[in-house]
Amino acid sequence: MQPPRRKGPLFHSENGAMKSRKNNNLSVFVVVFSVFLFGVFMYNEDVKSIADFPFSRSKQQEIQEEPSKLTTTFQETTKKGIENEVSLSVKSRTKLEESQEENSEEKQEPVDLKSILAKEEEQKIELPVVEEDDEDVELPPEECDLFTGEWVFDNATHPLYKEDECEFLTAQVTCMRNGRKDSQYQNWKWQPRDCSLPKFKARLLLDKLRGKRLMFVGDSLNRNQWESMVCLVQSVVPPGRKSLNKSGSLSVFRIEDYNATVEFYWAPFLVESNSDDPNMHSILNRIIMPESINKHGVNWKDVDYLIFNTYIWWMNTFAMKVLRGSFDEGSTEYDEIDRPVAYGRVLKTWADWVDGNINPNRTTVFFSSMSPLHIKSEDWNNPNGIKCAKETTPVMNMSTPLEVGTDRRLLVIASNVTHSMRLPVHFINITTLSEYRKDAHTSVHTIRQGKMLTPEQQADPATYADCIHWCLPGLPDTWNEFLYTRIISKS
Ligand SMILES: *[C@@H]1O[C@H](CO)[C@@H](O)[C@H](O)[C@H]1NC(C)=O
Ligand SMILES: *[C@@H]1O[C@H](CO)[C@@H](O)[C@H](O)[C@H]1NC(C)=O
Ligand SMILES: *[C@@H]1O[C@H](CO)[C@@H](O)[C@H](O)[C@H]1NC(C)=O
Ligand SMILES: *[C@@H]1O[C@H](CO)[C@@H](O)[C@H](O)[C@H]1NC(C)=O
Ligand SMILES: *[C@@H]1O[C@H](CO)[C@@H](O)[C@H](O)[C@H]1NC(C)=O
Ligand SMILES: *[C@@H]1O[C@H](CO)[C@@H](O)[C@H](O)[C@H]1NC(C)=O
Ligand SMILES: *[C@@H]1O[C@H](CO)[C@@H](O)[C@H](O)[C@H]1NC(C)=O
Repeated sequence: MQPPRRKGPLFHSENGAMKSRKNNNLSVFVVVFSVFLFGVFMYNEDVKSIADFPFSRSKQQEIQEEPSKLTTTFQETTKKGIENEVSLSVKSRTKLEESQEENSEEKQEPVDLKSILAKEEEQKIELPVVEEDDEDVELPPEECDLFTGEWVFDNATHPLYKEDECEFLTAQVTCMRNGRKDSQYQNWKWQPRDCSLPKFKARLLLDKLRGKRLMFVGDSLNRNQWESMVCLVQSVVPPGRKSLNKSGSLSVFRIEDYNATVEFYWAPFLVESNSDDPNMHSILNRIIMPESINKHGVNWKDVDYLIFNTYIWWMNTFAMKVLRGSFDEGSTEYDEIDRPVAYGRVLKTWADWVDGNINPNRTTVFFSSMSPLHIKSEDWNNPNGIKCAKETTPVMNMSTPLEVGTDRRLLVIASNVTHSMRLPVHFINITTLSEYRKDAHTSVHTIRQGKMLTPEQQADPATYADCIHWCLPGLPDTWNEFLYTRIISKS
């Protein structure tokens, strides 16, 4: 057990550590201290709202935020699930009517279109999967390390979809619509060193997902990736044959003709915590129960593809508060445990749950490593920068490792745990390659606590830039290309 930690003394010692860091001392302590810097300068200010806001939007957003009424309305109009559904569908209809020919999800397709589509479907079933299109999809060798490579500019193939063409994106991530002027952040392709990622084909992926459920489980970064995945598959689904239902902790995107779902389940620590309420989780005093996972886990059973993550919610304090007893019993006392120790306990609980509850013959399990932050522009040798704001290109100099304050101790733990499980888990190592993408965050082109940033706030990136979440289309599409590669590779 660690004694309770306080901010004051640590803050002072941190200044000294930052100096040694300038001397390229990459010791664990420096990592810890630079992480703590985030705690002081970033989290108190932003994460408690930024990391929280996806589910804590305010009513005003409906008025201010034109593009994503779908989410907003659902979340805010009422807390009761059923009423949510009603207002969701009403609002989404309004929006769809405005933007497209379709009227509502229930409306029948024009007959001719429907039969054409049906024919397409039939044809596809008969064809071998990799030959469905005009060209083959070349799969990388199983043993190829997809995560070692480089970013290459490729505006012929990327982005994989257009911001305007994915109605399901929330205002949190639609950076161009929110006023971002540069768009090249959408054009970078990840090129593994020893092989290539297969060309993305939505129909190929949907064929693999036919009759199946795919679910992201975790925090707002996994939600970011879920939105990306919805956009990646929805482009080939005709209007009226797809729907989004957000209800409590679970959001379900449904593709009718494939009987497939792409889902997101809110569990920022994976285990039970006092931050699990999807609508009311702006809790500063975050407390977890590291050995308690079944309450969430029951919702993950019988899913065919599970993608887990947990990171950002660990980062606002050095120590994690671990409850003595249980929330159900009304316990309030807690111990403060070093972050890596508590993280290891949580992942042990998670791994045991997966090993005990998942049938590997049915379900493929992924674990995504940490999504990095870009808070200090000195980290990438831009002393005149302001956090990630105004960055328009990735870090291209890969000669020395980039150090942006990621708590790599957790990466090692996650890698270890996932590789020592009974059930094979695909470790999606997004951390290092994402660290180069200082250009890809939503920055000031986003919402905060449910409201679009005002021009005044946008002019003050030091305070308001979100350098945690990512624009879409953008970096999370690449994370999904890794999932895509694994999913289509499975026979
Ligand atoms: C993650 O990938 C990076 C390259 O992108 C590599 O350097 C690092 O060793 C990998 N880490 C783990 C834990 O697999
Ligand atoms: C791609 O980028 C090149 C170089 O910046 C530019 O000349 C070209 O017009 C771009 N093409 C598209 C389709 O955006
Ligand atoms: C649709 O998919 C679910 C699993 O997601 C499955 O249980 C069900 O049997 C499927 N229904 C049909 C008609 O294929
Ligand atoms: C949305 O999901 C909830 C919870 O699963 C369910 O009760 C409700 O019927 C669904 N609504 C629609 C429109 O599918
Ligand atoms: C998975 O499939 C294998 C081979 O078909 C079988 O031996 C095994 O019992 C199955 N495992 C489970 C948990 O169903
Ligand atoms: C790459 O970064 C390293 C460390 O910051 C620096 O020493 C080196 O000069 C840089 N190389 C180039 C070509 O900018
Ligand atoms: C990870 O595994 C390696 C090799 O098994 C071991 O040496 C190391 O201590 C482990 N690290 C952690 C943090 O568990």
